[in-house]
Amino acid sequence: MKKILFSIERFLYTKVLKPIFFVFDPEAVHDFVSSCGYFFGTNVVTRKLTAVFCNYQDKSLEQTVAGLKFKNPIGLAAGFDKDAKLTQILPEVGFGFEEVGSITAKAYVGNQKPRLYRLPEKQTLRVNYGLKNFGAVAVREKLSKLKFKFIVGISVAKTNNPETSVVAAGIDDYFFTYKTFADVGDYFTINISCPNTCEEKPIFAEPENLDLLLQKLFSIPKIKPVFVKLSPDLAEDQLMKILSVCQKYPVDGFVCTNLTKVNKFNHQGKGGFSGKAVEPLTNDLITKVYKFYGGKKIIIGCGGVFNARDAYKKIRLGANLVQLVTGMIFEGPQLIGQINQGIAQMLHRDGFTSITQAVGADNK
Ligand SMILES: Cc1cc2nc3c(=O)[nH]c(=O)nc-3n(C[C@H](O)[C@H](O)[C@H](O)COP(=O)(O)O)c2cc1C
Repeated sequence: MKKILFSIERFLYTKVLKPIFFVFDPEAVHDFVSSCGYFFGTNVVTRKLTAVFCNYQDKSLEQTVAGLKFKNPIGLAAGFDKDAKLTQILPEVGFGFEEVGSITAKAYVGNQKPRLYRLPEKQTLRVNYGLKNFGAVAVREKLSKLKFKFIVGISVAKTNNPETSVVAAGIDDYFFTYKTFADVGDYFTINISCPNTCEEKPIFAEPENLDLLLQKLFSIPKIKPVFVKLSPDLAEDQLMKILSVCQKYPVDGFVCTNLTKVNKFNHQGKGGFSGKAVEPLTNDLITKVYKFYGGKKIIIGCGGVFNARDAYKKIRLGANLVQLVTGMIFEGPQLIGQINQGIAQMLHRDGFTSITQAVGADNK
């Protein structure tokens, strides 16, 4: 029954709504959809209706990861809900978790507009927001007043300005946000891979700088799981050094991956690429990280998930959890339920009773 409903919704989204949305500026549409989502989250009627049309849950999708109970493995990746507007509606849409942010110590209006572009035929977005957000204190204030029906991660990044390009100042910036969210949110992701900052390259992806950063973050008692978000563009030796540095600290796992700088479609302008442009690089990195740690660290796979097969592939490569942004923009909000339903069916087909059994099945 839900399968038919999802198919009708997908048809309506891709044939009616999306062609209208795609006429307008991508950032304006993003803001409009976020406002609608915020409104839908404010009252019980629209929340219940959203659940009827989108939500799909199944026992086989539940798992405990890093001590946190996830109702399903599909999360909204960082960047869509930068300022925590959608925490009340996303569980009804069917998400098992979301990552708010990225959040930085100081507020930032973002890079010059336009800064979001669609490459529809490539199922890709080019993103150049540059860590636009209201700043740690303001977002904390908002989140601390809310109760959540799902897992909420806090994506912590470094304020995008030249002053924090000095390593010591950059560390202080990360640390401020990290401390500010000590008692809000369920886990942290340390974003060391934003490709759209004023620096040429993310400076905390340099292993020696990352070492200093992690030393500082873990100088206070660890209160919740900590993940590190990696770039898909790391050279092999840099990746190995980063993974070795992380091994020295109680890092729980990795988000693989952020946007790619590899401009394989020769699209003009600044920014990083999401969606299908990043998917093969992401999947490659999941395999490398999974093998490096022998499956002992948690992996959140993120990049180019447009259907259940894409998500299940990441799980079988070694991802415990999966995140997406671009797929939902191209396919519609019912995609989350469709993916969860599809994964439950594939688990059953492959003889697994729980998602945990499928994690890394293709890389053992
Ligand atoms: C509009 C947009 C904004 C993003 N902003 C952030 C961000 O602030 N922090 C971050 O870690 N990743 C950010 N990302 C990257 C996504 O979290 C994700 O890693 C990437 O888009 C790959 O996933 P996808 O193919 O499902 O979109 C952003 C992506 C998009 C599309």
